[in-house]
Amino acid sequence: MARLRTQVAIIGAGPAGLTLARLLERQGVDSVVLEDRSREYVEQRIRAGVLEQGSVELLAEAGVAARLQREGLVHSGIELQFDNHRFRVALSDLTGGRSIVIYGQTEIVKDLIAARVASGAPILFEVEDVVLKDIGPGPPSVSFRHAGEEHELRCEIVAGCDGSHGPCRASVPASTLRSYSREYPYAWLGILAAVAPSNEELIYSHHRSGFALASMRSPALSRLYLQCRPEEDIANWPDSRIWEQLQLRLGLPGWQLKEGPVLEKGITPMRSLVYEPMQYGHLYLAGDACHIVPPTGAKGLNLALHDVRLLAEALTEFFANGATSLLEDYSERCLRRVWRAEHFSWWMTSMLHRPDDGNEFEVKLQLAQLRYISTSRAAATTLAENYVGLAKV
Ligand code: APR
Ligand code: PHB
Repeated sequence: MARLRTQVAIIGAGPAGLTLARLLERQGVDSVVLEDRSREYVEQRIRAGVLEQGSVELLAEAGVAARLQREGLVHSGIELQFDNHRFRVALSDLTGGRSIVIYGQTEIVKDLIAARVASGAPILFEVEDVVLKDIGPGPPSVSFRHAGEEHELRCEIVAGCDGSHGPCRASVPASTLRSYSREYPYAWLGILAAVAPSNEELIYSHHRSGFALASMRSPALSRLYLQCRPEEDIANWPDSRIWEQLQLRLGLPGWQLKEGPVLEKGITPMRSLVYEPMQYGHLYLAGDACHIVPPTGAKGLNLALHDVRLLAEALTEFFANGATSLLEDYSERCLRRVWRAEHFSWWMTSMLHRPDDGNEFEVKLQLAQLRYISTSRAAATTLAENYVGLAKV
């Protein structure tokens, strides 16, 4: 058995774990990142793509935003489509000049891994059987297997950045954790297509056949989504059916979606889920490990980054002078933004998706709300300031 030692053991090399590792490295705090998948796998996984301005600023502070600033697409508005017309929500005009940047989560992950590897700081891929020990009273340790060898990593803090199915949250005694959740009767069928985006800005479309979203990853790559049933089998969705539904739900008289080869497709279920508190003993949870939002408001990645901003601040204080007050308040400070984002994502989801039972009363409410956003500056501002990310919650 090989014995290792570090200050912070970081479980998971998604955006949360990698950004935390990078922020700590800049403050002189040692960490080891443990990831159960291969580097190629985590760099290829297609995920989110909308960054709030605060997220861009954090990645810049972490010194990993050079390519993001070169290649990211800055957007100052989004479009809402309903009742056969489109309405622009002028995000920047409504929020004192704030904007969002379109840049794939996979690209952020690639940039963060490259920076970690270049610094020589430890990051291990394809680790197996990660088990957390003594996270309550401490001192904690993490055992795992890597390249056929057993390891024990002793540490002072464990950061659980291992997503919704990882082992960290499961290590917390059930009696100290409370969960709050909501399931939705719909899912998203998403495709990545090798075709230039048909519109300069994202289009969120309310349609009697179901919600659709036109997004993008670059000037040559479109990312498109269709509302479908959660139990839908992707085998029933040949490319021709996907394009036909996208054309139906996003098309307007005189406007058609550009089609191209489908590079990737998949179905994502939609959930709202929060675990409280986000800490236990020497374990601190961040990102999808402790909260999930439905994708409609594009908040998942941004919340994960906000968590690790606060966690890095608290750990820097702790390792610099032993101060524990920021660590003690970690969960409470994160959860304010988590619940704001949970509400926003639930609200956007409820306003835009076709009710599964076809309840016409609900459809009328949705249309009334969409019309209100398109006619009232106050209502549009509510959407805009949440979408670009509130400075204070
Ligand atoms: N051991 C080590 N690593 C693990 C284990 C394990 N047993 N289980 C899971 N992991 C890894 C996963 O392989 C993944 O790379 O933890 C990482 C968690 O990363 P993400 O799922 O990307 O979660 P997070 O970093 O919190 O980022 C949240 O991801 O799903 C999107 O919409 C979500 O954009 C949001 C973001
Ligand atoms: C995406 O591009 O993947 C995306 C964009 C906006 C959303 C959700 C996902 O609300």
